[in-house]
Amino acid sequence: MIGIIGAIPEEVNAIIAEMQISETRIIGDRKYYIGHLENVACVLVFSRIGKVAAAITTTTLIQEFKISKLIFTGVAGGIRKDIKVGDVVLATHLAQHDFDVFPLYPKNEIPLINKKYFTTDTELNQTATNEISSFLEAKNIHNYISENDLNEFKIQIPNLHQGLIVSGDQFIYQKEQVSKILNDFPETLCAEMEGAAVAQVCYEYQIPFTVIRTISDNANETATIDFKRFIEKISNTYGLWIIKHILKNIKTLPN
Ligand code: ADE
Repeated sequence: MIGIIGAIPEEVNAIIAEMQISETRIIGDRKYYIGHLENVACVLVFSRIGKVAAAITTTTLIQEFKISKLIFTGVAGGIRKDIKVGDVVLATHLAQHDFDVFPLYPKNEIPLINKKYFTTDTELNQTATNEISSFLEAKNIHNYISENDLNEFKIQIPNLHQGLIVSGDQFIYQKEQVSKILNDFPETLCAEMEGAAVAQVCYEYQIPFTVIRTISDNANETATIDFKRFIEKISNTYGLWIIKHILKNIKTLPN
């Protein structure tokens, strides 16, 4: 069973619509959709926003549904200069940019597990890289999203980037926030609000996972408007094709 999480309905609604759902369960005020997509058994849920919400949801997926792998799909604010709205970022590792117990413990390190970074699964990442890059290179996005909508966000040929994603319980839209993130984590590609919490839970339970984010905004003064328009118009389409293409090619045990 594969666990799939998005933070908000706009990140997963299109996947729910295509899933063959056999059952739904409400646990801890969240609705879990259980069924198949691309003939792969999966359970899908939106966690709501933030690290606590994401951690609760991830723990439930592991404890109640015994998932063997987890994929997080959603949007993020681009931090590195060359990352544009419509690009996709695949996390090789994640960190919680707002977590800091210095000077009691080393800066930005999660105490007692002695980790600043959590690493995603190389096998899942390989499948995700192959699928997403061939999709983007083939300009397939133009078949799924209208030229009007692509033009609104100036999306032409989106790129796939791989590297560090940081998470925190803040929407990033001010220069000061970006400077602090880059000061503490200079290699940051983008920022969001759940991935590194999912990563910590998966690390502690030893569940292979990956986090894939489409860039909805540039974490700047127009981020609020860009984010809202992007989740209204675009994010569902990316989420659906990313998840479908990965599931088609994922190696799972029959269940
Ligand atoms: N998710 C999408 N855009 C974001 C931003 N600018 N800050 C935090 N999370 C986000």
